[in-house]
Amino acid sequence: MRCADGRRRGKGRPALRAARGETVMDVLIVGGGGREHAMAWKIARSAQAGKVYVAPGNAGTALEEGVANVPIAAGDIDALCAFARERGIGLTVVGPEAPLAQGIVDRFRERGLAIFGPARAAAQLESSKVFCKDFMRRHGIPTANWRSFSDARAARAFLRECKLPAVVKADGLAAGKGVVVAHERGDAERAASEMLSGDLFGDAGRRIVIEDFLEGEEASFICLCDGRSLAPLAASQDHKARDDGDAGPNTGGMGAYSPAPVVTGAVRERVMREIMRPVVAGLAADGIEYTGFLYAGLMVDKHGGARVLEFNCRLGDPETQPLLMRLRTDLLELCLAAVHRRLDGAAVEWDGRTALGVVLASGGYPGACDTGHVIEGLESVSEDDTKVFHAGTRLDGGVVRTSGGRVLCVTSLGDDVKQARERAYRACERIRWPRRFFRTDIGHRAV
Ligand code: AMP
Ligand code: GLY
Repeated sequence: MRCADGRRRGKGRPALRAARGETVMDVLIVGGGGREHAMAWKIARSAQAGKVYVAPGNAGTALEEGVANVPIAAGDIDALCAFARERGIGLTVVGPEAPLAQGIVDRFRERGLAIFGPARAAAQLESSKVFCKDFMRRHGIPTANWRSFSDARAARAFLRECKLPAVVKADGLAAGKGVVVAHERGDAERAASEMLSGDLFGDAGRRIVIEDFLEGEEASFICLCDGRSLAPLAASQDHKARDDGDAGPNTGGMGAYSPAPVVTGAVRERVMREIMRPVVAGLAADGIEYTGFLYAGLMVDKHGGARVLEFNCRLGDPETQPLLMRLRTDLLELCLAAVHRRLDGAAVEWDGRTALGVVLASGGYPGACDTGHVIEGLESVSEDDTKVFHAGTRLDGGVVRTSGGRVLCVTSLGDDVKQARERAYRACERIRWPRRFFRTDIGHRAV
C-alpha cells in the first residue's frame, strides 16, 4: 500500500518489533464507515500499532494492509468488550456517535479496558440538543438564540411569530437529518409537528429546539481532549447538501476539504478561547470530564466571530478522510496521549498541502438506496496522492459491492484546492457502478 504522504514506513512485523523491545499494541476501531477506514489506515501506519481490528468495518478495511474486520456491530457493546478483553486490545477508538451515546466508554472503563472517546454524560453534547444549548447558555458559549418545546401547539404558536428563516432541530440523534432550515412558516410548523409527533425520528424528536438562523460560512473544528487539555486539529469544511450549489436535502456529508480558509489564525485563536476551552472547563465545573474528539460545527461571520451550530462527540465524516491524509503526527500516539492525560503541549503536525474528498453515493441517497452493485475501476486508482476510503461497501467473494448510501470517499492531496480537486475528480470518473452519483463542486467556496 502506498502512503498518501509519499512516505513508506517500513514498520516490520509486529512480533519482530515486539522482540526488539518496541511497544506494540493491537487496536480496535469501532464503526464501519469512511471515517473508520481512514482511522484504521492511519493507525495501521503507527510505529506502535500491531494488528488493527475494525468492528464491523467494510470492504476497504478488509483489504487494508495490517487491518482486519471483526463481525461485531458497533452497537453490540458487550461483544466489543469481550473481544477487547480476549484479544488483549491495547486501545479501542470509537468512530460513530451511537455507541458513545449508549455509554460504550463507561462500560469499557468499568472493565478496566483502555478506550478513547467521551463517556455517556459527556456525549450528551451531541445526543441532546437541549442539553447542549442549555450548557452553552450557562457557560456563555456563543450560539444562536433558542427555545425548546415538547408541546406541538406551543411550538406552532411560537413559529407563527418568530423571525424567518427558522431552524427546527430534533433534540436527539437523527443521523444528520434532524435539522430543518425553514424559509416559510408552513414548512417550519410542519417540521415541528412531524418531529414532536414522534413520526419522523421517534423519541429523538419528542423534544425540539427552535433557534435563530445564523449567517456566515460553516467550518468544522475538531480537538482531541484529555479531560483538561486540548490539541486542536486543522480546520475543515464539509458539504452537507446532496446537490451542487449546496441545494437539495441534507445528507451526512457529500465531500470535505482541509484546510478551511475561513478559519484564519485569528479565528482559530478565538475559537479556542471562546468555545473549545470554555466547553471543557464548563463540563469539568459541572462534574463531567471530556475525553475524546470534540467536534464543533461553527458558523463564522464576516468579522471572524464564530458561533456553535452543534457539537459532535467524535470525528466528522467525511472531514476525517481529508484531515487524516494531511496529518503527519502519529494518530495512535495522539490518542494514547489523550487517554493518559498527556495532551498538554502535544505537537500536531500537518502536511501543508490541501486534501479534498469527494463522496460517491448510491442512487436514492439520502433516501432509500439502490445497493448490491459491483464497483468497477477501484484498481485503476493507484496514485500516491489519492486514496479511496470505503464506507458503504462489502466484500463478496473477492468482489467489492455497494452496501450503503455513502459508498466511497475519494480523497486527494494537492498543492492547492484546485489541484486536490482535479486529482480527486479524475479518480472519481474512473470508478463506476449503476446510478452512482457525486457532487461536482466540492471545495467551490475555497477555489
Ligand atoms: P447541525 O446538525 O445542527 O449542524 O445542522 C445541520 C446543518 O443545518 C448545519 O450544517 C447548517 O448548515 C444548518 N444549520 C443548523 N443550525 C443553523 C443555524 N442556527 N443557522 C443556520 N444554519 C443552521
Ligand atoms: N460531516 C458532519 C458530521 O460528521 O457530523
